[in-house]
Amino acid sequence: MRRLGILTGGGDAPGLNAVIRAVVMTAYNEQRCEVVGIEDGYDGLVQAGRARVLTVDQVRGILTRGGTILGTANRGNPFARKVLRDGQEGIEDVSHLVMEGLQRLALDGLIVVGGDGTLRIAHELHQKFNLPVVGVPKTIDNDLGGTDVTFGFDTALQTATDAFDKLHTTAESHHRVIVLELMGRDAGFITLHSGVAGGADVILIPEIPFDLAVVCRKIEEREAFGYKYSIVAVSEGAHPKGGEQTFSRAGDAVYTPRLGGIGHQIGAVIERETGKETRVTVLGHVQRGGAPSPFDRWLATRYGAHAIRLAAAGEWDRMVALHGQQVTDVPLAEAIAVPKRVDPEGEPVRAARGLGIVFG
Ligand code: F6P
Repeated sequence: MRRLGILTGGGDAPGLNAVIRAVVMTAYNEQRCEVVGIEDGYDGLVQAGRARVLTVDQVRGILTRGGTILGTANRGNPFARKVLRDGQEGIEDVSHLVMEGLQRLALDGLIVVGGDGTLRIAHELHQKFNLPVVGVPKTIDNDLGGTDVTFGFDTALQTATDAFDKLHTTAESHHRVIVLELMGRDAGFITLHSGVAGGADVILIPEIPFDLAVVCRKIEEREAFGYKYSIVAVSEGAHPKGGEQTFSRAGDAVYTPRLGGIGHQIGAVIERETGKETRVTVLGHVQRGGAPSPFDRWLATRYGAHAIRLAAAGEWDRMVALHGQQVTDVPLAEAIAVPKRVDPEGEPVRAARGLGIVFG
């Protein structure tokens, strides 16, 4: 009987447990494979004793649960691991330990559920050691190539849109400007989609550098027309024309820089320039938590089922993907080659502009 491992890496996203459940149930009912759950991303392969066989009983009831029952790790890159030796910090390549872990657990292959970083590592491990791996695209940011959509995005969108709906009523009552800062790293999908769905007046995304004078003018125009409040949606990765992104923590060889702070920056300028009382909400990790939406449960389940079929058939170095209505698969290399971004001239942005939404 084939024995296949599954791990979840990078930032969590609603639907991870739905993938795990679908993998285990399809392995049991259809493929007659055994599934081993690996804890905390690649860490659970690098370190011994951090894996367990997953039975159908163990995945019962997890479809609706946010997070991941396996745990995840943001800094689990086995090619660059921070180590302390004689009190000195250094970086070590422990990628060979992933293969040792695979052998130790007697695994015939591995399903890796992750975003850009985790899947890039999977592909590199395949290139370097011929790691038998299948990828599943996860991220609330929806910034992975090769697929129309990643699971987790729809739930994040729902959460962000709820926030806009709630901020609308308080902004209107107090005649304020409210700025909502959203996640997404260098991709503006969450902000654009929820901003339109939530009736924002201004949408600032990384793909379209902004000019705050234009933003302030829009707010003043609304005031002149009798709309005494405005809603500004801003991506954590948005930046002014000719300016830089705002980081709350710098990066290094192991840590990716942490974006954050642009909302408060622009909120202060808007209040000063327009004289309008302004408040800032940073939605943060609420966007990643909670039960997956019906769409994400459906998508994650189909991704999981397809992933175990690929793994059982020994079709490695591929990622499951959604093309139109069809779940299919693409080479992992294709998925990570070019990150997906909002097209500044595309139909969704033009539709928003047509409504009078200002992109700065
Ligand atoms: O990639 C998902 C994401 O939530 C981004 O939108 C955000 O920039 C980042 O992860 C935050 O990561 P963390 O706080 O877990 O380091």
